[in-house]
Amino acid sequence: MVERTFVMVKPDGVERGLVGEILTRFERRGLRIVAGKFLRVSRELAERHYAEHREKPFFEDLVSFITSGPVFAFVLEGEDAIRVVREMMGRTNPRDAAPGTIRGDYALSIEKNLVHGSDSRESAEREIALWFRPEEIVDYRRAV
Ligand code: CMP
Repeated sequence: MVERTFVMVKPDGVERGLVGEILTRFERRGLRIVAGKFLRVSRELAERHYAEHREKPFFEDLVSFITSGPVFAFVLEGEDAIRVVREMMGRTNPRDAAPGTIRGDYALSIEKNLVHGSDSRESAEREIALWFRPEEIVDYRRAV
């Protein structure tokens, strides 16, 4: 089933110049970029994005990290996009992430783990609506 998922290259990925590398992996896999923007995240957006973690001990660190520098936020579309993107990112803790995954190849820190991707259909819907207006999402098909 064709799905859309929300993905973000976090401040560590932008800082390390890995935006292109990360996008390339998804594009080569056959996922379509249907929206994208480069921005500095406000505290309000960060708190709303990570609302489910509000009670966690690492919440404050998470919000200050995600607002510490610009991010590249985008929407990918494709068959089973939510699961495919999560598999390509690797486990949340990069130390457990398999080689060949983005985190498994480029990260070691659970906080600075380079990318975020929606973890379910419900989160994808919520996150896409939080980060993008409907008119910022473009409908098209790729030949490959
Ligand atoms: P993300 O997929 O963006 O969603 C929540 C984030 O919280 C997660 O990636 C990690 O970067 C971060 N996170 C999860 N567990 C911890 C933890 N124990 N300590 C610090 N950060 C964490």
